[in-house]
Amino acid sequence: MSRLIIVSNRVAPISEGGPAAGGLAVGVYDALKETGGMWFGWSGDVLSSGQPHMQVVERGPVTFATIGLVRRDYDQYYRGFSNATLWPAFHYRPDLIQYDRHDFEGYCRVNAWLAQQLVPLLQADDVIWVHDYHLIPFAEALRAAGVKNRIGFFLHIPFPAAQVLLSVPPHRELVKALCSFDLLGFQTQRDLRAFSDYIVSEAGGEVEPGLAPAPATVRAFGRTLRAAAYPIGVYPDEVAQLAKAGTRGKPVRTMKATLHDRKLIMSVDRLDYSKGLVERFRAFERLLDRSPACRNQVSFVQIAPPTRADMHAYQDIRLRLEAESGRINGRFAELDWTPIRYIHRQYERSVLAALFRQSHVGYVTPLRDGMNLVAKEYVSAQDPDDPGVLVLSCFAGAAEELSGALIVNPIDIDGMADALGEALAMPLAERRARYRDMIAQLRENNVSVWRDNFMRDLRAAGEKRRTAKTR
Ligand code: ADP
Ligand code: F6P
Repeated sequence: MSRLIIVSNRVAPISEGGPAAGGLAVGVYDALKETGGMWFGWSGDVLSSGQPHMQVVERGPVTFATIGLVRRDYDQYYRGFSNATLWPAFHYRPDLIQYDRHDFEGYCRVNAWLAQQLVPLLQADDVIWVHDYHLIPFAEALRAAGVKNRIGFFLHIPFPAAQVLLSVPPHRELVKALCSFDLLGFQTQRDLRAFSDYIVSEAGGEVEPGLAPAPATVRAFGRTLRAAAYPIGVYPDEVAQLAKAGTRGKPVRTMKATLHDRKLIMSVDRLDYSKGLVERFRAFERLLDRSPACRNQVSFVQIAPPTRADMHAYQDIRLRLEAESGRINGRFAELDWTPIRYIHRQYERSVLAALFRQSHVGYVTPLRDGMNLVAKEYVSAQDPDDPGVLVLSCFAGAAEELSGALIVNPIDIDGMADALGEALAMPLAERRARYRDMIAQLRENNVSVWRDNFMRDLRAAGEKRRTAKTR
């Protein structure tokens, strides 16, 4: 069997052997720990002087090959084009897009440089799987360096509607670069449709749908490639085990003791403007406003570790949330009750899973999200005999699969307050039925299935490319 090479900007922290906050690190780590292989990417270090050196570390079946970035590369490639241009555009926030053509040059330069660092580590039979929006030009760069291996790409975040993508000045170069991969994977059918629409309406290409489960065939920019939706999953039984184990731990026992018999609403997200936290806080406030019976009877815990804290948009959302939580707590808190507990820390996966299991409502309402693994972890962590209710945004990729959730529009504050009220009052029989429906779906499409389906199609797509060339 050929070796799997994962390439991503963010790599799970090597020292702890487990993933960082963020769906990519968690999902990829789970997928790779089973098959083994190599994981290549940024070490997380930013060097103010000297040259970056590759560090290669073996951890069980996984070899981590990581390298630092010099300050200018970090600013242009990561902070600049990836997170100030692509991230807001792909999350439908054209109002937040900042564009500087030097950042785009830096983005392409760093992709080419990272590709050159990887080349000496490659073997002829390796299958290369590149992840996420930081590395769109990576296949072009590898091909330019003479690499003939199969190369696939998976986008963890949404692919925007063509009209939104057009606001990114080098949109054509980006989509052309995507067409250098052998296989493109998206989180949802909605993302695949948006990509196909761009190919047909803006690039003059064509998309021939595959007979399911075969991927679609895309012809554009003189290339033929395959594309399909591969919704990323979790290991639901592993999360359930973690949740059970975590329940006995100190953090969860302390939390229970301070809750007394109040009901618990739980949210866990990176502190990102795409997660809809302001609207979420306001909908909880609306619930308290409209339902005096909920006051001092329900607590809302929002865990939100800061992310990309050196960017204005992230400093801004942090200030807004501090103001909102302070305002709402000031309005409703009593001597023995703080309505919103707003926490910036990272926690062990077992603690998060156990908190999910203790809670009555999982409150997951991003304004846009590629998938949202938290929604899947929340359901997985539940006690089958007494499960909580998932309140889920229609704009999370997970909403395509989790039809047992209460689906809300995160712009609709009253609608979200209604859903919270309904979730808190939902009878046991209905909670169990919804849980059974969702857990069956999560087991059927766990993270191994995600990986195996993608790898199956990547191997087949690469074969087609080779045979086409030898003809
Ligand atoms: P994103 O990729 O945008 O961050 P996801 O919901 O898909 O969103 O993935 C987030 C992942 O990070 C989940 O696996 C979640 O458990 C983890 N995570 C989020 N917040 C924390 C935290 N405070 N501590 C530890 N892990 C976290
Ligand atoms: O899953 C989306 C994602 O953007 C990943 O690509 C990224 O690793 C993660 O969220 C966290 O963001 P960052 O790597 O910028 O800390």
